[in-house]
Amino acid sequence: MAKREDHYYRLAKRESFRSRAAYKLQEIDRKFRVIGETDNVLEFGASPGGWTQYVLSVTSGTVLSVDVSPMAPLEHVHFLKGDVMSPELPKKIESMMGSLGLKEFDCIISDAMVHTSGDRSRDHSSSYLLDTRIMEISLYLLKKGGNTVIKQFQGDLTKGFVDTWGKYFSSTRVTTPAASRKHSSEIYVVFSGKL
Ligand SMILES: C[S@@+](CC[C@H](N)C(=O)[O-])C[C@H]1O[C@@H](n2cnc3c(N)ncnc32)[C@H](O)[C@@H]1O
Repeated sequence: MAKREDHYYRLAKRESFRSRAAYKLQEIDRKFRVIGETDNVLEFGASPGGWTQYVLSVTSGTVLSVDVSPMAPLEHVHFLKGDVMSPELPKKIESMMGSLGLKEFDCIISDAMVHTSGDRSRDHSSSYLLDTRIMEISLYLLKKGGNTVIKQFQGDLTKGFVDTWGKYFSSTRVTTPAASRKHSSEIYVVFSGKL
């Protein structure tokens, strides 16, 4: 058996999820109730779409998924190909929101990450920079009371990240889902109830 074909990989195949990552969001959502059943959701780092499929299974709201890589279409999902680090991205998202009749999102989630290098310190820095930009965009587009989930490869800057952005929310939790790979340094920060 190939090394990557673990329990969650096989489960994802069986349940037709595009990626095993879907189980990370499922666990986070079941534990922290992040996505409401009519929430309009914005998602960063969506491709290939496992998280998106999970989101579709819990909300009847509008789903806007963003990724720098292409994503095969999913019914009821609006996809925007764009780079989080591009200064043009917020305008593109707003323009799409306009055509979808949306003013804000109820929930914003991110599983975005550049290819990991294996160097923990470098992966942490890339993840921190990406996440900082995602939080800047999210704070502006998230409604009062809204929730955010964001992945980070943890390191020296993680505590500062959690403290800085946590000030804008009524509660902050840090979690590692069972589906995260054993030796991975990834964590998920759950910011609930935007103030
Ligand atoms: C771990 S994958 C996401 C898996 C996805 N959540 C799923 O369940 O199928 C990380 C994604 O982040 C995307 N990504 C990396 N850097 C990005 C950037 N600067 N802007 C937008 N997306 C980015 C990658 O293209 C990749 O598709």
